Amino acid sequence: MTTTLITNIAELTTNTAEHGTLRDAALVIDGDRVAWVGPASSAPAADTRHDAEGRAVLPGWVDSHTHLVFAGDRTAEFAARMAGEPYTAGGIATTVAATRAATDDELAAVLRRHVAEAVAQGTTYIETKTGYGLTVADELRSARIAGSAADEVTFLGAHLVPPGSDPDSYVDLVITEMLPAVAPYVGWADVFCETGAFDADQSRAVLQAAAAHGLGLRVHGNQLGPGPGVALAVDLGAASVDHCTYLSQSDVDALAGADTVATLLPACDLSTRQPLPDARRLIDAGATIALATNCNPGSSYTTSMAYCVTTAVLQMRLSITEAVAAATIGAAKSLNRTDIGHLGVGARADVHLIDAPSITHLAYRPGIPLTHAVWRAGNPSTLGKR
Ligand code: NIG
Repeated sequence: MTTTLITNIAELTTNTAEHGTLRDAALVIDGDRVAWVGPASSAPAADTRHDAEGRAVLPGWVDSHTHLVFAGDRTAEFAARMAGEPYTAGGIATTVAATRAATDDELAAVLRRHVAEAVAQGTTYIETKTGYGLTVADELRSARIAGSAADEVTFLGAHLVPPGSDPDSYVDLVITEMLPAVAPYVGWADVFCETGAFDADQSRAVLQAAAAHGLGLRVHGNQLGPGPGVALAVDLGAASVDHCTYLSQSDVDALAGADTVATLLPACDLSTRQPLPDARRLIDAGATIALATNCNPGSSYTTSMAYCVTTAVLQMRLSITEAVAAATIGAAKSLNRTDIGHLGVGARADVHLIDAPSITHLAYRPGIPLTHAVWRAGNPSTLGKR
């Protein structure tokens, strides 16, 4: 296997207790793994050498929440929102109609294009969901297509009750037909537990059925108002509850006492004119948070993890270290992965080299595309190079 030495790193964020943040550092990749990290002065030889020229290195972004199997466009809905219309769950139906009408090749091309866009900006591990099919056949093909380009796939048949369907009959269809068909192609199941989508009982039924199929659990909760999503996620031992825009004190306490990660999606809150989640309160209470893009054509049309990190620092009062951790190792935890989100020896070699001497520049220089080079599982990504 080929080894690569990345040296002359001004600041190396490892996200490990052993190495912390190193200055004047180096890192060795062996195949798809990190083989060595330490001071540049004592780095071992390798087959190839990459001079970071005083730039900073951090783990690749882990985007743990996207909806990339879709077709169509919702520019008009976005413009109406910016003119004062509220965001509602019902907008999902527009994308469902376009997705059902698209061919497999068209859907796969949209997915690949967005994954490539994300990787070019430093994302090295990406989750995506079904949820714009909402028939057995359309959810099944969405799951298969999702697995062709994403690292993790989540079944979100319970995204919206399709227009014209009876809610209880639809939940029954999700449990008795969709789940058995889709389960072999996904690792996770998710439910949109929100007014206008699925209530607590319906969400619980879907999640319990998914757990019986061996799937890990995730929940969309507390996005558009206070609600039962967080409590349900914690009660069922979900790996993650995503959005968390409206939290009660008992929600915060529950998250602080649980392994469930609070995944915050600030680009979505800004694009839907919602308040930003109270990340500071969650961290101070002891909860683990993740940051993700929620890239989808309706509520959050961005693949930029850097934008989420910048927002978390400038507007949500996180330190840059907290925000970078949330977008890397916190998001990895939300996916039950211990081999990504950090650059310890043995980790997957997901390496993000930025055009700046420190991660502070991610917030200090908002809006500047800082990604210089990306290694995804040890493979240099030409897309990331400038
Ligand atoms: O996470 N909240 C539910 N699902 C997506 C939105 C999907 C859409 O509007 O198309 C979200 O924001």
